[in-house]
Amino acid sequence: MTSTILITGTSSGYGKATVELFLDRGWNVIATMRRPDPSVFATSSDRLEVLPLDVTDAGSIRKAIADGVAAFGRIDVLVNNAGIGMASAVEATPEATVREIFETNTFGVFKACQAIIPQMRKQGRGVIVNVTSSVTLGVMPLVAFYAASKCAVEGFTESLSYELEGFNIKARLVEPGYAPTTSFTANGGLRMQGLIPADYSDFARSCFTRMGNYPTPYCTEAEVAEAVFAAATDEGGTIRYPAGADSKLLADLRWTTSEDHYLARMREMFGPEPSLRAA
Ligand SMILES: NC(=O)c1ccc[n+]([C@@H]2O[C@H](COP(=O)([O-])OP(=O)(O)OC[C@H]3O[C@@H](n4cnc5c(N)ncnc54)[C@H](OP(=O)(O)O)[C@@H]3O)[C@@H](O)[C@H]2O)c1
Repeated sequence: MTSTILITGTSSGYGKATVELFLDRGWNVIATMRRPDPSVFATSSDRLEVLPLDVTDAGSIRKAIADGVAAFGRIDVLVNNAGIGMASAVEATPEATVREIFETNTFGVFKACQAIIPQMRKQGRGVIVNVTSSVTLGVMPLVAFYAASKCAVEGFTESLSYELEGFNIKARLVEPGYAPTTSFTANGGLRMQGLIPADYSDFARSCFTRMGNYPTPYCTEAEVAEAVFAAATDEGGTIRYPAGADSKLLADLRWTTSEDHYLARMREMFGPEPSLRAA
């Protein structure tokens, strides 16, 4: 039987690449977007259904799931990929902006999981893949609220994975690194304006320059799509799938070295340069 996957946030970036990979590998794909536009994909197929879904709207999530099941009979894999980003100084970030980030990155994931679990339990199997970020492995400065929104999903997903194991449903995480090639930075641009005050600007500049000179290549859409494919199809008990060389470097630091070593390397990569440290 052909397997079916539903993916959120597929108008660009990692979500779009994931749609194309699963179509290439013969799956039925329910590609969801806030404003459905099948022309974003390189190919058309009778195995592709493009449906509206806004993760901040529980009704639209339920409708996309019902319409997807009506089209293909079942949903084997749900990928919660939709997300928005932001860099800001904590003291300058309005509560409304923090809530906007959490509504999409965190509550959006919670809502989609709550909506799919009854369907997967009825089917007797399923896989939920939640896309977080390498910031959950190595937390860089000036993204505290974004990191918080994704770290919440990490704890949620690991707990859910134990909760659903007895129902033959897996809950997993794909942790992509930074890719300047997606629409992520442009989509966050407006939201970030004015959120890094002048007192932080030397530090922010040095930090973002060092990010540009990162010791590994950037992550790619293809690497994230492959990590989602592994998370969707692996038979084992793995929960976390770092994607991209930068994310794997941080996973290595976090998982295989001491706290002291991890913190020293993080400060080297992202902390204030000596000239910017408090006396
Ligand atoms: N690129 C990176 O450096 C990076 C690094 C680590 C993690 N990630 C994560 O990877 C995921 C994909 O990001 P990306 O880099 O591919 O960025 P992207 O190109 O901006 O894609 C994000 C997608 O999410 C959609 N979206 C935003 N708000 C939504 C909502 N309320 N409901 C449904 N869809 C919504 C956007 O659709 P619209 O067209 O409707 O705006 C877009 O299709 C995100 O969860 C992001 O946090 C990205």
